[in-house]
Order: sequence, then C-alpha cells, then structure tokens
Amino acid sequence: MEQKKLKKYVTILMIIFVAAYRLLKKQIKAQSHFKPLKIGHRGAAGYCPENTFASFHKALELGADYLEIDIQMTKDEELVVIHDATVNRTSNGKGKVKDFTLSEIQTLDAGSWFKPEFAGEKIPSFNEFLDEFAGKAGLLIELKKPSLYPGIEAKLANELIKRGLVGANKHPIIVQSFDRTSLKHFHNLLPSVPIGVLVKNRAVNGIPNKDLQFFSEFATYINPKIAIVNKRLINRIHQHGFKVFIWTVKKKSEANMLQRIGVDGIVSDYPDFF
Ligand code: G3P
Ligand code: CA
Repeated sequence: MEQKKLKKYVTILMIIFVAAYRLLKKQIKAQSHFKPLKIGHRGAAGYCPENTFASFHKALELGADYLEIDIQMTKDEELVVIHDATVNRTSNGKGKVKDFTLSEIQTLDAGSWFKPEFAGEKIPSFNEFLDEFAGKAGLLIELKKPSLYPGIEAKLANELIKRGLVGANKHPIIVQSFDRTSLKHFHNLLPSVPIGVLVKNRAVNGIPNKDLQFFSEFATYINPKIAIVNKRLINRIHQHGFKVFIWTVKKKSEANMLQRIGVDGIVSDYPDFF
C-alpha cells in the first residue's frame, strides 16, 4: 500500500516537473524570438544627414518599422522636419527656425554639412514628408520645443486628421515629446493618437511611481534615454501598462542588451544594428 502511494506521488511530481520544464522552455523560446521594433532615429542619422529624405529612404531600405522625426514651425506657421531650434548645425544657414518662412528655409542646403555627396538635401516640410513616407512605415513624431510654437499641437492634429492618418493599424502614428503640457494638450485634441513621454533625467529610483501614474492619464509609451535604462525600470514601466521605446542606440552591444531586457522598440541611428 505504502509503495503504491509513493509511486503515485512520484508520478505526480514527474508530471509537474515536465509541465514546468515545458513552460520554461516555451518562455525562453518566446523571449529569444522577440524582436523589438526598429525605429530609425531622424531616419538613419548614422549614415545620412538627419531628418532629410535621404535619411528616411535609407532607414526604410534598412527595414525600419518606424521613422522618428522632429517637427518645429516656421514664421508662416508651416511645420518643418528639423531637430534643433536653429538651422545652424544641420544646414549652411544661420538663425532660428521660427524666423524663416517655409520658402526661405527650403533654400538652405541640409546635406553638405554631413558629407558633400548629400549636397542639395532640403529641410523637408511636414507635408512633403507625409506625401513621401506616410503609409510606408510607422511614424514616431516628436514635438520638439513646442513651447516656442504656440498652436503647433492643433496644426499637427489637423494635418493628421485631414490626411486620414489617425487610427491606422498597419503603420501607426505616435506623438512624443519631453514637454508634458504639450502632450496633454495634443492628447485632448486627438485622443486616438498614442502618446509617448520622453524621459532623460536619472531619478533615484528611475522614474517615480507617481510620475508613471500621472503619465497614464494621457500616454501609452514611456520612452527613456538609454543611460537610465535597466531591466528593473523596464519591468516597472511594463507593470504600469506602458510600452517602452529606448533612444538613442549607437552601438550593437547596446541593441543586444536592450533586446535581452525586453524593450518594445529601439530608436537607433543605425537601424540595421539589430
Ligand atoms: O526618439 C527620442 C529621441 O529622438 C529624443 O532625443 O534629441 O534625438 O530628439 P533627440
Ligand atoms: Ca527626436
């Protein structure tokens, strides 16, 4: 009788062991097959002058799932694709973006500063960018320094609505910024477009829970700088129900580490690194 009981326990234990082993194997397999989204930073800024058509075409050629762009506004209230608030670093001109009209800013050469072969690249208007690239990849649109441009949120929202780009499943649009006030404003104007909060400051415990709770009122993504990232932070962001894109990856080793810790997307100057 005792032997019969023992046999029964051993059988149950073996069944539990085999089931646990299979589950673990399945989880490891799923993790090793998980590929974060490839997000081309300012296009493929490691290979081409950032935020130009050449850069966005290169990112698509390298298989980017999303194109990351920065938008600002000209004196005549046209949206343009440029990172800095001045044209000094990325063109042959000088001055603030907001002091140029669209036609003036588009006379500048936005390619030669990077390499002579890119001479003639322009600072794209947002309209030109959408004409060429909307529907070819997801778009991660950063409202850059929006406090300099009153009305930029409405301008962006109207453009996306006018073109019927809101709510696409295949090539979604996400709007991100460091400016929480601007993000909340945009979210109120167009709640169906997912919002990403950019985070770069190293707090004692990463990003405090109270901040994550506040962000959940309007955001779907928390997008931290790579310097503040670790597995614990990624887990906490996920536990709060957000997705997470990390920026800006410039080394293969960084991309490998981020894949291991399970981020949802990697923003890189080199979208072919992973
Ligand atoms: O995608 C996030 C990243 O682009 C934010 O930093 O300075 O490259 O615009 P920055
Ligand atoms: Ca950006």
